[in-house]
Amino acid sequence: MKYVKPTINRVDFNLASKYGSPLKTQRIKNDIDGVNVKELTETFGSPLFVFSQRQIEEKYNEFKEAFSSRYPEVEFWWSYKTNYLDAICKVFHNLGSKAEVVSEFEYQKARHLGIEGKDIIFNGPYKPKEALKVAVEEGAKIHIDHWYEINDLEEIAEELGREIPVTIRCNMDTGVYPAWSRFGFNIDNGEAYDAVKRIFEGKKLILTGLHSHIGTFMLSTEAYKNETIKLIKLKNKIEEDFGFNIEYIDVGGGFASKNRLKGIYQPPEVIVPTPDEYAEAITNAIYEYNKGKLPKLYLETGRALIDEAGYLLTTVFASKRLPDGKKSYIVDAGVNLLYTAFWYNFEIFLDKRYEGLNEPSQINGPLCMNIDIINENIMLPPLDRGTVMTIWPVGAYNVTQWMQFIRYRPAVVLIDKDSNPHLIREKEDLSDIIRREKLPDYLK
Ligand SMILES: Cc1ncc(COP(=O)(O)O)c(C=O)c1O
Repeated sequence: MKYVKPTINRVDFNLASKYGSPLKTQRIKNDIDGVNVKELTETFGSPLFVFSQRQIEEKYNEFKEAFSSRYPEVEFWWSYKTNYLDAICKVFHNLGSKAEVVSEFEYQKARHLGIEGKDIIFNGPYKPKEALKVAVEEGAKIHIDHWYEINDLEEIAEELGREIPVTIRCNMDTGVYPAWSRFGFNIDNGEAYDAVKRIFEGKKLILTGLHSHIGTFMLSTEAYKNETIKLIKLKNKIEEDFGFNIEYIDVGGGFASKNRLKGIYQPPEVIVPTPDEYAEAITNAIYEYNKGKLPKLYLETGRALIDEAGYLLTTVFASKRLPDGKKSYIVDAGVNLLYTAFWYNFEIFLDKRYEGLNEPSQINGPLCMNIDIINENIMLPPLDRGTVMTIWPVGAYNVTQWMQFIRYRPAVVLIDKDSNPHLIREKEDLSDIIRREKLPDYLK
């Protein structure tokens, strides 16, 4: 027998504390939509992002049903920044979603997928004039963020010799703090009204919509009610004062997914509103306050539609005992791939049942960085090298905000509705990194 240095470990009797009972059983997940996780990593490598088309469609249909059953004209605009892999965007577009982008790069990505300009909303505080002009020429919906952009658009209107339909982005107090006030024009202090007046007087732009994105992971349906009331009241006033016809109001994104925010002890099933609850708050506010023709209702929902359809498979590479007695598992996926690990406590599943007592453990990524922690405090049984863990839900904002830092980015797979896995992004290698680098002759 090999000598192992003795340690004293806390034995977990699964007694309840003031936070409730610890997990009594190991959480096991050995397949995603019927495809074995170990086989997935053997075929495509580890770590591996896996998306379920079935779950994307189920969630999309749930939200669509919640809104369309309450309101006549609802449109979904897929928020590219949440996840702009071609295959994922295509799944949403095939379901009927249009595109919402916040940069010329995202705009080009939507166009490369065949989305017409008229089916793209161009949001964001930084729209270089050349990019703005292309979007205008192609008929995209331009959501103005600030005064400079009004000037830029008027210049473009002059250059093109025609009026440009535009929407303004608004911000406001919705009762949730801190308020997102840095985008668009403030409604409460009259700035949004002044911006409309300025647009009216400039005579080169035509206001056709009002937009606001009040924040992200919004747990309050009341905030959406307040947002909608303020947008609709502004719409009524603008139509009356300036004669503009506001065709749509866009309430943005921000609905919460079933992820577990750090510092919030209640489970997502308890605190995250259902699609019906969000829809009820928004549509009731329109019905109650709208004067004149009902506007179309646009939604730019991101994370709530994709987060739970995304999984990250990671493999245990080594373990060690930390000086405080805690077990540390080193796995092959870290915060380079899971940017959102800084504010979420993900669910961690094991590929099979492991013998032995649960003990306090932490899961560390492969980076040579002290902050590379996926989970700081989790009860785990002794795990072997090669154990595959499934981290969930990770579908939103990770495959866009992942970093090529220290390690290559891994492959991404989409499992179709017949349980066939498809490679939708290859894992990177050295050629991806050095392709754009130049070594000056004098250094060769
Ligand atoms: C303008 C805009 N619309 C939509 C979204 C999507 O938000 P979420 O993923 O919270 O639904 C964002 C994200 O920040 C955004 O900035």
